[in-house]
Amino acid sequence: MNQESNRKVILKSRPDGYPELSNFGLVEEPIPQPKEGEVLIKAIWLSLDPYMRGRMRDVQSYAPPVQLGGVIVGGVVGRVVEARTPAFAVGDLVVGPLGWQEYATSDGRNLLPVDPALGPLSTAVGILGMPGMTAYFGLLDVGRPNPGDTVVVSAASGAVGQVVGQIARIMGCRVIGIAGTQEKIDYIVKELGFDVGINYKTDDVRAALASACPLGIDVYFDNVGGDITDAVMENLADFSRLVICGQISQYNLAEPALGPRNVRLLTTHQARMEGFLVFQFTARHDEGRRRIAGWIREGKLKYKEDVVDGIENAPAAFIGMMRGENFGKLLVKVSQE
Ligand SMILES: NC(=O)c1ccc[n+]([C@@H]2O[C@H](COP(=O)([O-])OP(=O)(O)OC[C@H]3O[C@@H](n4cnc5c(N)ncnc54)[C@H](OP(=O)(O)O)[C@@H]3O)[C@@H](O)[C@H]2O)c1
Repeated sequence: MNQESNRKVILKSRPDGYPELSNFGLVEEPIPQPKEGEVLIKAIWLSLDPYMRGRMRDVQSYAPPVQLGGVIVGGVVGRVVEARTPAFAVGDLVVGPLGWQEYATSDGRNLLPVDPALGPLSTAVGILGMPGMTAYFGLLDVGRPNPGDTVVVSAASGAVGQVVGQIARIMGCRVIGIAGTQEKIDYIVKELGFDVGINYKTDDVRAALASACPLGIDVYFDNVGGDITDAVMENLADFSRLVICGQISQYNLAEPALGPRNVRLLTTHQARMEGFLVFQFTARHDEGRRRIAGWIREGKLKYKEDVVDGIENAPAAFIGMMRGENFGKLLVKVSQE
């Protein structure tokens, strides 16, 4: 790479259905110069996350869309390489929404310090960052599991799902994970200690859930939506909690799918269904980070990362994630630590 340039991935066109490589462009520009009061950051780790698919649509949701020609949004761990503010020093490690690019400037308001003592740098956008906080607060605050409960999680080997299942085990729950390959099922059961794994591509999910959850499902942590969620709703326990974290099976549909088709079962089981955003718990993220880091240190919590090298490979990796090709938290290694 030419050290004098900044390579960035822009949105060339809006995907129609599943994203394709032609929707992305790789642009090389001079490294941006920080203004007075700003810092220049060199990216080390870029996080690839399903929410980015939503930002590629021309609709306002809880955040504005990426503009055509604009850098794709994304969380980055990086190092300050130039500081024109006393608030930061060269060498500081930071995390912030700096996008799919090798260098970015910031006035510091969107940056948080990274404490390398808590874990490897990549975890600041993984298990100790946004996905880890999503798992922790979504499960504990929204799902409210009790010891002995049966907890089901979909996209169970992914960045969020793998953490949800392990925290549920720490809380004394029985855990059933749903994922899309035998390798992922083997991982969550044999490595992470989930009680049962269901492969939604080869198993009859309804029958497998009925047999794995004879007393019904107390907490469902929903990462995918669609038919898997319908199948879960047919196996609920009374007073169960459905945590609507994400609906990845719907993100690439040109037209919204029909459903859910069995909401009446919430009445039958006096169940509660609740959506949440990780940001609603921002004031408590330090608590989540501390507890997760503690469980990792005690050997109670493991995590798996799926690392791709080079910013130029981010689009293909992101497209792969939408098709289940990632195995663990998907990260781009943008530069050496
Ligand atoms: N509410 C919040 O604040 C918040 C924050 C972060 C993430 N999320 C949501 O949490 C979910 C998981 O995110 P993540 O970062 O942990 O991603 P991830 O699970 O690491 O990666 C996505 C996984 O989704 C599965 N998948 C893809 N298409 C699917 C389909 N049609 N049906 C079923 N599964 C499918 C694939 O695994 P398989 O091989 O198992 O299919 C894929 O590996 C997403 O829905 C995301 O939007 C929400």
